[in-house]
Amino acid sequence: MRIAMIGSGYVGLVSGACLADFGHDVVCVDKAADKIEALKRGEIPIFEPGLDALVASNAKAGRLSFTTDLRGPVSEADVVFIAVGTPSRRGDGHADLSYVYGVAREIASAVKGFTVVVTKSTVPVGTGDEVERIILETNPDADVAVVSNPEFLREGAAIGDFKRPDRIVVGLEDERARETMTEVYRPLYLNQSPLLFTNRRTSELIKYAGNAFLAMKITFINEMADLCERVGADVQGVARGIGLDGRIGSKFLHAGPGYGGSCFPKDTLALVKTAQDHDSPVRLIETTVAVNDQRKRAMARKVVAACGGDVRGKTIAILGLTFKPNTDDMREAPSLSIIQALQDGGARVRAFDPEGMKAANDLLSDVTYTKDAYDCATKADVLVIVTEWDAFRALDFPRLAETMAAPVLVDLRNVYKPEEVTRHGFSYASIGRGTTRGVPPMSEAAE
Ligand code: UDX
Repeated sequence: MRIAMIGSGYVGLVSGACLADFGHDVVCVDKAADKIEALKRGEIPIFEPGLDALVASNAKAGRLSFTTDLRGPVSEADVVFIAVGTPSRRGDGHADLSYVYGVAREIASAVKGFTVVVTKSTVPVGTGDEVERIILETNPDADVAVVSNPEFLREGAAIGDFKRPDRIVVGLEDERARETMTEVYRPLYLNQSPLLFTNRRTSELIKYAGNAFLAMKITFINEMADLCERVGADVQGVARGIGLDGRIGSKFLHAGPGYGGSCFPKDTLALVKTAQDHDSPVRLIETTVAVNDQRKRAMARKVVAACGGDVRGKTIAILGLTFKPNTDDMREAPSLSIIQALQDGGARVRAFDPEGMKAANDLLSDVTYTKDAYDCATKADVLVIVTEWDAFRALDFPRLAETMAAPVLVDLRNVYKPEEVTRHGFSYASIGRGTTRGVPPMSEAAE
């Protein structure tokens, strides 16, 4: 298959490289000339494990190339993917579709012969209809089938998610696209990943409903964590105890400082707006959004409490800035709200993150960036784990105690067991672990 991937950002690049790896002939297109030039030199503009090697090997094999010219690749393509951004529109929280519609117009005037146009960007219900309308309005002779094919890629695990998906969802209105899409995903289909065909609007909603459900699940366990702290229960035990019920499932029950990232905050908000517009409010998701927003700032209060109720003049060392590990993405990261709240309270902030410091520096002011966890902890009154990078999973506590002004750890990701930390003389606060009277939160009988 000849594939044109319009938009070489996170989703476009990962999808383009993986589709090339399946053996397709893929051209990645982007307006940003500097990005395309960098990609041609083999430089990957984002941090995603394994992506550089995948791009390099497929470019070398001649299956993957990069250009700023949309017309050429689109005119030759069997399938054109739209993978441009759909950020939250300033002011009203709706998804901003101007890039998607702009690209649809350009595609319309370039297509030749029957072409399947696939929306991979996350777009509200009905966008496929509008893309189809725009294409036919711009070029009434265009012979296209407009398909919805949402992505379910997690940053940091995107290549694995693309190559071994739980499912592939394809929403179509024109039966001719079924065969083409089956061919595009043939290697996965052969791997027995279910390929679900449905209509376009259902497919568009699946993406939002999926992300909203996961955001709600995280928010649920976060609220349980708060309750655990009040009643003397342990949230990890609760998560394990409910997660083994197959109807609930054990994933996405890790309590923490609130979800962030480029998808959950934006997609939940867009779903809320769409539902309001259609007079069918999704109240659970409205509440999820509000609870999660409040939670991020509330985490700063935990740090303040660990400092004895006041952080004025104190030095706070933050470990982890990105919204989750294995990414350099700072979008909607809980660290942003936490750091700002601590600075508002008069604290000095030092920080270390393996990949996120450059992006953080554009978003935060007055933060001292450091070279590793120990440098970060120097003379600090409290150390706070905000993102659970592997580098923070085996900290040398005696060494930290020596360098810090006071041995205090706030672990917002429950990386450690309390006794692992307290036996080194640290005072320790975490998420959702109420005091227990020496009974371990959960143990299981040996098989
Ligand atoms: C998510 C979806 O998982 C993916 O399917 C979709 O296509 C895009 O959005 P991503 O944003 O990369 O992917 O991150 P994910 O790993 O899902 O985590 C999102 C946020 O939730 C992070 O801030 C993470 O720390 C938080 N989270 C996740 C929790 O706090 N607890 C959990 O149990 C799981």
